[in-house]
Amino acid sequence: MTGVRIVGIGGTLRAESTSEQALKYAVNAAAELGAETELIVATELDLPMYAPGRQLPAAALRLLDAIRRADGLIVSSPGYHGGISGLLKNALDYLEVLAAEPRPYLHGKAVGCIVAAAGWQAGATSLMSLRSTVHALRGWPTALGAVVNSSAKPFDPKTRDQLSTVGRQVLDFARARVELC
Ligand SMILES: Cc1cc2nc3c(=O)[nH]c(=O)nc-3n(C[C@H](O)[C@H](O)[C@H](O)COP(=O)(O)O)c2cc1C
Repeated sequence: MTGVRIVGIGGTLRAESTSEQALKYAVNAAAELGAETELIVATELDLPMYAPGRQLPAAALRLLDAIRRADGLIVSSPGYHGGISGLLKNALDYLEVLAAEPRPYLHGKAVGCIVAAAGWQAGATSLMSLRSTVHALRGWPTALGAVVNSSAKPFDPKTRDQLSTVGRQVLDFARARVELC
């Protein structure tokens, strides 16, 4: 079986962040199925506002390096006012640095998308917003995206099943692509 590397990115700076817990659940599911995994949580994504040409902070270089080496990603955002958080969007804007690389942006990488929100409306619109950003970065959002209602914790069996399916789909796609290339 081909070894693949999956990087989980997301969460918020809030203690007991639901989006971070959901991210960890999905990443652990991929790890249990044999993926090599790495987590990059909100404290490491708390970057200065991205500006083209500005010197890159060390944390941004670490993020970019992790993404370069990843075969697949799992990205988890809170639903903030109907979209993804500014913190996560800003971190993803740093991927502009990868534009001219042999594998630009998220080219050829499966991306599992997760949103945690207090209500279903923001969950749905924020998941669309996250998937649109992944598409714009040339990533491949997995067939299943997961929405977690943060007012219903601990995660119920259906939510846990969705999160582990997202992890498994990223792993399956990443393995297939690694074997193909
Ligand atoms: C700035 C802000 C905006 C939010 N906007 C919405 C919203 O539009 N709809 C919603 O259902 N929940 C909204 N929420 C609630 C969050 O989606 C919810 O608390 C989520 O769990 C936050 O992620 P976290 O638990 O990882 O911190 C908002 C919370 C904050 C702090």
